Amino acid sequence: MFGMGPTGVKRNADCEWDDFDPEAYYNHNYRDLREDDRYIIEQVRDHFSAVFGNGVPDHGLRGIDVGTGSNLYPALTMLPFCAELTLYERSMNNIRWLEKQKSNDCPSWADSWHKFWDVLVERPAYWQVANPAIQLAKLMDPVPGSVYELAPDTPYDVGTMFFVAESITAEQAEFRSGMDHFLDALAPGAPFAIAFMEHSSGYEVGDHQFPATDVDRAKVSDCLRDRVRDVRIKHIGRGTNPVRNGYSGMLIALGRVNGGLDEGTRTPA
Ligand SMILES: C[S@@+](CC[C@H](N)C(=O)[O-])C[C@H]1O[C@@H](n2cnc3c(N)ncnc32)[C@H](O)[C@@H]1O
Repeated sequence: MFGMGPTGVKRNADCEWDDFDPEAYYNHNYRDLREDDRYIIEQVRDHFSAVFGNGVPDHGLRGIDVGTGSNLYPALTMLPFCAELTLYERSMNNIRWLEKQKSNDCPSWADSWHKFWDVLVERPAYWQVANPAIQLAKLMDPVPGSVYELAPDTPYDVGTMFFVAESITAEQAEFRSGMDHFLDALAPGAPFAIAFMEHSSGYEVGDHQFPATDVDRAKVSDCLRDRVRDVRIKHIGRGTNPVRNGYSGMLIALGRVNGGLDEGTRTPA
């Protein structure tokens, strides 16, 4: 159950995020590898592999996934490149679920994540992780917090945010703020991947209803335009097996934050 802001638009603070049911969410969305997620993983895998040159950087990077919920695959896309992986999440139920994954070498690995990893190991950078379940459990650091207050002392080198900025509020200004805070948390030149539900009318998890902002490619592009380079936004249709009602597809935005030592080598967006 959630309330509503004075304008009648459901805002982030109006929702009971601590009641988010991570098992219900995981079972519905990630117990099997869907074709839309497979496509997204391929795109993110190739993007990070291209930026990091298919190898592992000399020193491990600091990565962040914002609004992780019970989805470990965004973190897996960053695994070979990172020495630290912050999983930043507002819901204490989700933090507890993530802590359980960390303390038990990812008990959900055998249920599903190995299928997602199989897509990642089609590229050489991922071959270097001998045991991804153990490596992820070792590196992941679940951190409670709100994206609207995300302001790290040291910006992150790589980041992901999947189905969060538009799926935690119905208010356009908050959507924009979530996007801005995520991009602000990344270092100049940092590669990122951001996934969105397109034209979402909100969603149910267990017994709880959560809001969404109605976004499309133009709105996503508008948030990114002045802040990032080499950006590509890809659309994924609903296909024959949509994950739920009330959305028209998914979007995946890939790019790099403006600035960085190699900016001179940029290609036009
Ligand atoms: C639709 S789920 C997406 C979960 C996951 N990233 C995925 O790919 O499926 C939205 C997530 O954002 C989290 N969330 C809600 N408000 C947030 C906030 N202000 N800051 C960070 N995370 C938030 C929720 O608890 C939930 O885990």
